[in-house]
Amino acid sequence: MTINSITIRKPDDCHLHLRDDSILRVVLPYTVSQFARAVIMPNLVTPITTISLAESYRNEILTSCPGEFDFHPLMTCYLTDMTTPKEIEFGFFENVWVAAKLYPIGVTTNSNQGVTDLIKIAPIFECMEKIGMPLLIHGETANSDIDIFDREAVFMENSLLPLLKRYQGLKIVLEHITTNETIDIVRKYAPRIAGTITPHHMMLNRTSLFQGGFQPHHYCLPIAKREYHRLALRKAATSGESCFFIGTDSAPHLRSIKESSCCSAGIFVAATALQSYAQIFAEECALNQLEAFASLNGARFYGLPLNKGTVTLEQNPSRVLKTITIGDDEIVVFRGGELIPWSIKNNK
Ligand code: NCD
Ligand code: ZN
Repeated sequence: MTINSITIRKPDDCHLHLRDDSILRVVLPYTVSQFARAVIMPNLVTPITTISLAESYRNEILTSCPGEFDFHPLMTCYLTDMTTPKEIEFGFFENVWVAAKLYPIGVTTNSNQGVTDLIKIAPIFECMEKIGMPLLIHGETANSDIDIFDREAVFMENSLLPLLKRYQGLKIVLEHITTNETIDIVRKYAPRIAGTITPHHMMLNRTSLFQGGFQPHHYCLPIAKREYHRLALRKAATSGESCFFIGTDSAPHLRSIKESSCCSAGIFVAATALQSYAQIFAEECALNQLEAFASLNGARFYGLPLNKGTVTLEQNPSRVLKTITIGDDEIVVFRGGELIPWSIKNNK
């Protein structure tokens, strides 16, 4: 029997880049119309490294939020070599942040203040393990000598596995996972570890990056991998296993920056995220697992109450705008302008 519509509990986006100022105001409505909460990435140009920066960024998000939506941004702390356990612990107990984000220095957009060597933040890991605060990891090596398609695997082998051994109580989310091997690691060490999966890594493979010429709007980090990894990600996400959940990694960049001699990494997926997930789950005959992946597993991992409202998706092809305007520039929407088989019907 084909299912034509599905109603799920309001979902959480457990990995989201909202930026600030004018970009924030333009992109936020797309997220709040789909998700009740989002784990907000702290890699602004001035990264969110302190409690006071997190509080003012949170206020900026809330004041930019369209009034009809009850949206809860969940803030994260950007770890640097200088982060103190006191800042981490106090911010966690005061409910300023839900987690801390580890960017190995230089690994992705705005990570130039990231951690130079994991050993330098050993006291932070000890503190987070003690207080039960999740560590969110951009799991790629920043060593530019390593082939870009191997950077996730090398990080897991050289950095993650020793970290898991050393801090056996530390809760970890491996963000935007892209390989079959990382899926196996998540499964092996669950439930203290989980993995977020983006819609684009389940729809694109590395060949899509070069289809008909280089496609800057498909370039993100970690970079899309071979087809068998993409298929493994679809199986993991749709399996219903509690260690996998939504993290869209929606990462808007202006078109002028994407289409330049040095294209920034990141894809703006917020406007078509839930529709894309629904399509993937329908294609995998697993719509009955969508609610777990979208609305239950992440909340449970973070120890948050489940959201109250619902969202209904239906098999009713529709088009989303190709681009959204921002000043005299624009942001290209992932799958914008395509006829997408699933659409959002309503949202209570
Ligand atoms: C993200 C961004 O633009 O902030 N880019 C990306 O390619 N995913 C950063 C990140 O999550 O790596
Ligand atoms: Zn990200």
